[in-house]
Amino acid sequence: MEKLVITGGNRLHGTIKISGAKNAAVAIIPAVILSDGVCRLENIPDIEDVNIIDEILCKMGASVRHINENSLEIDPSGIEEPVATYDLVRHMRASCYLMGALLGKYLRADVALPGGCDFGVRPVDQHLKGFGILGAKHIVEDDMIKIKANKLTGNHIYLDVVSVGATVNVMLAAVKAEGRTTIENAAREPHIVDLANFLNSMGADVRGAGTDVIKINGVKTLRGTTYSIIPDQIEAGTYMAAVCSAGGDVVIQNVIPKHLESITAKLREMGVTIEEFDDSVRVVSSGRLKRCNVTTMPHPGFPTDMQPQIAALLSTADGTSIVNEAVWDNRFRYVDELRRMGADISVDGSLAIIRGIERLTGAPVKATDLRAGAAMIVAALGAKGTTQIEDIRHIQRGYENVVGKLSSVGADISLIKTNESMKQA
Ligand code: UD1
Repeated sequence: MEKLVITGGNRLHGTIKISGAKNAAVAIIPAVILSDGVCRLENIPDIEDVNIIDEILCKMGASVRHINENSLEIDPSGIEEPVATYDLVRHMRASCYLMGALLGKYLRADVALPGGCDFGVRPVDQHLKGFGILGAKHIVEDDMIKIKANKLTGNHIYLDVVSVGATVNVMLAAVKAEGRTTIENAAREPHIVDLANFLNSMGADVRGAGTDVIKINGVKTLRGTTYSIIPDQIEAGTYMAAVCSAGGDVVIQNVIPKHLESITAKLREMGVTIEEFDDSVRVVSSGRLKRCNVTTMPHPGFPTDMQPQIAALLSTADGTSIVNEAVWDNRFRYVDELRRMGADISVDGSLAIIRGIERLTGAPVKATDLRAGAAMIVAALGAKGTTQIEDIRHIQRGYENVVGKLSSVGADISLIKTNESMKQA
């Protein structure tokens, strides 16, 4: 067992380089199943979620070769059975992308109900509705979703909710279907665009990704390709928040500033200075922040995956802020942890009312999920004294080398084994 130990108060100065996007990687890696050739993927983040999806593909018979820690070569030709059992998928929500990829390739997918972060009901009705409209039938048996089609035919699909997962899955299932599929009310997240670009680099015909109407003309075959994944918008946002909490002057490199607009706008409203360059942003903060209200929304709105980190910042802002979580129905479990550090937050349904205090105080806390863990890091960097964060396996799912990156800009952070204090860079 490991935990993170952070002593707050050090200002952060220097440069942090952002890794490839987790949510793009976990969609694009399963998408390789659709290829008739070998795919080389670059700028892949070295994180636990990627290791898990790699392992799932390997156990299914694909060959996954690590060229270096951020590049992979995947040959999916050895996959014989389009089946992913519970012991393969249980740790990971994005394993539901195996449904679309296997169905698109083999016209059949048996995938166990997925795991992942627990913030309320995470339905897949829209994914299944999309598969059904393309001509597939499904049953749920022994905790497995079993989907089958004689043939997939392009069609018009209107998603009842804006869902990243359903948009990805329908794209994967439709890319080799016969004829044209139109997805209306599609998600517009940067990783949807990245997936479309990846599929097109294999020979697919996907248009409109990044808008709410995606048109897919089915193709018969998809070839191998080399593709580099976009930078991680949420990792970048988390480090921007870290600088705001601790105070300092840091250049966040390898980002697409346009993807950060909603985060940048909120941080500016809180009094932070942010300069944008071609592929970096500079964040300058005194550590003293102004209150603001935040409502999470699908892209291009403020991302729900930055909600806990911004709430951590607002807990020491000047005045009372209201955070409205409008995407997930149970994403305030981390509030109890922030309260241990002295935060004054009350939760009423989808609203968190945050009364800013002068400073948080270090305490033993838990990472209740991935972004909740990120919020604990943000809070700890500005807090008085030392914070110990447990259950960091959640953080390791989505952040590459968090200790190294934060240490390099002057944070007092170390990873220790629970029984001994072994400091690791
Ligand atoms: C993805 C992200 C996750 C992020 C979320 C919202 C990945 C791997 N994960 O999750 O980090 O928090 O987008 O930006 O990319 N819904 C339905 N029916 C469905 C599907 C979803 O009602 O069939 C609802 C959900 O309950 C939720 C909302 O739609 O309220 C958004 O969910 P969705 O965009 O699908 O999230 P994920 O793809 O699971």
